[in-house]
Amino acid sequence: MIIGAQWGDEGKGKIVDLLARDSDVVCRYNGGPGAGHTIVADGATFKLKHMPSGILWGKECVIGSGCVVDPAVFIDELDDLAGRGVSIDVVRLSAEAHMVMPWHVALDQASERRLGKLQIGTTRRGNGPAYADKAYRLGIRLQDLFDPKILRQKIEVALAEKNIWLERIYGVEPLELEELAERYEGHAQRLRPFLADTSLLVDRALKDGRQVLFEGAHGTLLDIDHGTYPFVTSSSTVAGGACTGIGIGPTRIDRVIGIAKAYVTRVGEGPFPTEIKGADQERVRELGAEFGTVTGRERRCGWLDLVALRYAVRLNGLTSLALTKLDVLSSFPELPVCVRYRLRDGTETADFPASQSDFHHAEPVYEILAGWGEPIDDASGFAELPDPARRYTEFVERELNVPVELIGTGAERERVLTR
Ligand code: GDP
Ligand code: IMO
Ligand code: MG
Repeated sequence: MIIGAQWGDEGKGKIVDLLARDSDVVCRYNGGPGAGHTIVADGATFKLKHMPSGILWGKECVIGSGCVVDPAVFIDELDDLAGRGVSIDVVRLSAEAHMVMPWHVALDQASERRLGKLQIGTTRRGNGPAYADKAYRLGIRLQDLFDPKILRQKIEVALAEKNIWLERIYGVEPLELEELAERYEGHAQRLRPFLADTSLLVDRALKDGRQVLFEGAHGTLLDIDHGTYPFVTSSSTVAGGACTGIGIGPTRIDRVIGIAKAYVTRVGEGPFPTEIKGADQERVRELGAEFGTVTGRERRCGWLDLVALRYAVRLNGLTSLALTKLDVLSSFPELPVCVRYRLRDGTETADFPASQSDFHHAEPVYEILAGWGEPIDDASGFAELPDPARRYTEFVERELNVPVELIGTGAERERVLTR
């Protein structure tokens, strides 16, 4: 299992791509069109939203029932990949996955606009409203596409309510039944070949001794239950969520690898204790090219937060870590690393606060580690890294009591050190 251990954009796509080479099946278990995973292979850049990052190796790719799928975005992605010579007949979509419908996108956008300064800062791709309707049992699943009568009826029932919200609450244009029913019947034709019983498929793969990789979207701190609520996404991003999101029992999982940047980024609103003050934030952003894959928004940048990462180790039962983008820190003479939070009452804690207010007011307590001040892009093994870069990595391992198995030294596919 590959899990984002921070607030997303940790470099999951790149690490999954690396591990997919030696896997047989790669499965996405959560998230929707707001996820953006980047892979840089042989000079070409691929930005995947729905597609598991195993697609570039031609591996069997599963999109599980825990995902929400926007058919138009999915079809565009398929066509784009096919146009670039990537084989797409390896993709399998869970018939249980819910669809992101046009009203979800319209409501996500309208509700964020209306919240103004109180907004979550969502990707505005309809994720939240789609998951809300799933829980509300008003969702429409991919399998519903294949009975035009049922599809039309479900769209009609949903629209009767959604159009009231759109028109009366948010003052935007309502959606039209006939046009939607026709559009989604068109999507049905395109999607039919990809639908499968993906839980069964993964179960059989495991029984046959094949290697299966689970790819998380978003990140641990964006988890709907355990993240920094309400500034979270609407799905279960943690390791436990992978089991429900695929339909596989927890006893089938051997290893859980957390992906963490050597620093931290966050897109959207919400508290962020280690957010860098002053010019260094801009410097990290420029050096790390920290702009959203899907929205192009500036990512907020912070120093490495080991309190938050310790929480990710706990929530996911991480067996190892991949520390990505270590190269981005190369030019800083000193590197603050947050080891504890100072709370409002003056006490210090190494454990992530369970109370939202405590987290909101938490001040980072830093240990300052030495930088290395030289590029590391050409290192071909851990031993070749400058001493301070090795010490930085070992400090993380010691503090978290989890081995760092992989180290990212550049965006290109081959820029990873394996220990
Ligand atoms: P994901 O959502 O977790 O898959 O991450 P994103 O793809 O949204 O963002 C990570 C960005 O960092 C992408 O542009 C990657 O190409 C890039 N990246 C990944 N690993 C490294 C690394 O080790 N060094 C550098 N410099 N860039 C990296
Ligand atoms: P990947 O998979 C970074 C953030 C949004 C917002 C909050 C809710 O690329 O790591 P949503 O649209 O999901 O309702 O937005 O979650 N967010 C992400 N931030 N990477 C992501 O995905 C994210 N997916 C959602 O910015 O704060
Ligand atoms: Mg991303």
